[in-house]
Amino acid sequence: MPADSTTARAHPNIALLKYWGKQGGPGNIPAAPSLSITLDTLVTTTTVRQARADSLSLNGEAAADPRIGAALADWRRDHDIPPLAIDTRNSFPTAAGLASSASGFAALATAVDGHCRLGLSAGERSALARRGSASAARSIYGGFAMLNGPDWQASQLMSADYWPLKVVVAITSTAPKTVSSREGMAITKRSSPYFDAWISATAGDFGSMRDAVLRRDFARLAELSEASCLRMHGLMMSGDPALLYWNAATLGCIEALRSLREAGRNVFFTVDAGPQVKAVCESPDARAVQDLLRAQPGVRDTVTVGLGGGAAVVDE
Ligand code: PMV
Repeated sequence: MPADSTTARAHPNIALLKYWGKQGGPGNIPAAPSLSITLDTLVTTTTVRQARADSLSLNGEAAADPRIGAALADWRRDHDIPPLAIDTRNSFPTAAGLASSASGFAALATAVDGHCRLGLSAGERSALARRGSASAARSIYGGFAMLNGPDWQASQLMSADYWPLKVVVAITSTAPKTVSSREGMAITKRSSPYFDAWISATAGDFGSMRDAVLRRDFARLAELSEASCLRMHGLMMSGDPALLYWNAATLGCIEALRSLREAGRNVFFTVDAGPQVKAVCESPDARAVQDLLRAQPGVRDTVTVGLGGGAAVVDE
C-alpha cells in the first residue's frame, strides 16, 4: 500500500560555473556544462499526495506555476504519475535569485519518485529535475555538483566535507525577478552577439574549475568563478532587450568584496539572475565577510550558510 503522502527536502545550489542558455530541442538541455555548490540551512520541503486533479500550494497558499504543470505533463510521458496535490514551502524568499526553482524541482522530482515508486537512480532523478529546471539537476547532490554532457545528468564531484566553504548571501531586494531565467536565456540566445563565445568559454573553463575544486585551490576557484559570473552578466546585458539583474547594492557588495580579497581574505563573489550577492569564503573569513556585507548601503539582511547534502525523502 503506497503511503498517503511523501515529503522530500532539497537545498538550493549556487553555480560557480554558470549555466545560461539551452541547446534547443526536447529535454531542457543546457548548451554548456556547469558546476555548483549545494547549500545547507536554506531548504525547500515538498509534500505530494494523490488527488483528483493537480494542485499547488506554495508557502501555504494556493498558487499556479505553469512550469510545474509543464514539468508534470512532460514527466507523465515517461512515467505513471497520478494527479497530485503538491504542497511546497521555502525557508527563503521565492524567485529572488536564491535558486528556489533548483531546490523546488529537485524536491518535487524526489518526492514524486518516492511517492509513485518510480525506482529512479540519483542520476535519473537528476535528469527528471533538469526537465523542470536545469539548475535543479545539480540540487539532487550535496557538496560540489557538475552538470555536463553527454547524458546531462548531474553528478557529485566532491562532498560538502571535502572543502567546507561558507556562503554569505547579501539580500538586496526581496521582490520577485522581472524576467524569468527561462525567458532571459531565450532572449540572450536569440539576440546577443556574444552567445557563441560565452558557450565556448564556459565549456573551456569546466575542466579547469573541476581541477581547482579537486586541488582546493581557492585563488584559482575565485578567479574562474568571478570570470564566469561577470561574463554571464555581460552576456545578459548584451541582449535585446538587455537584461540587468543588478541594483546599486549589488555593485557596492562586489566592490567591497574585491577590496576585502585584496586585503588578504579568501573570498569571492557570485551573482545569479537577481540582485543578491553570494560571497563564497573559507570558514575563518566568514565573520569578516558578513560584517562587511551588512555594512553596505542597500543590504537588507545577510544569511550565512555552509555546504549541504543532496535531495532526499524525509522519513515520516
Ligand atoms: O535552471 P534555471 O532556469 O533556474 O536557471 C539557472 C540560471 C542561473 O542560476 C543564473 C545559473 C545557474 O547555473 O544556476
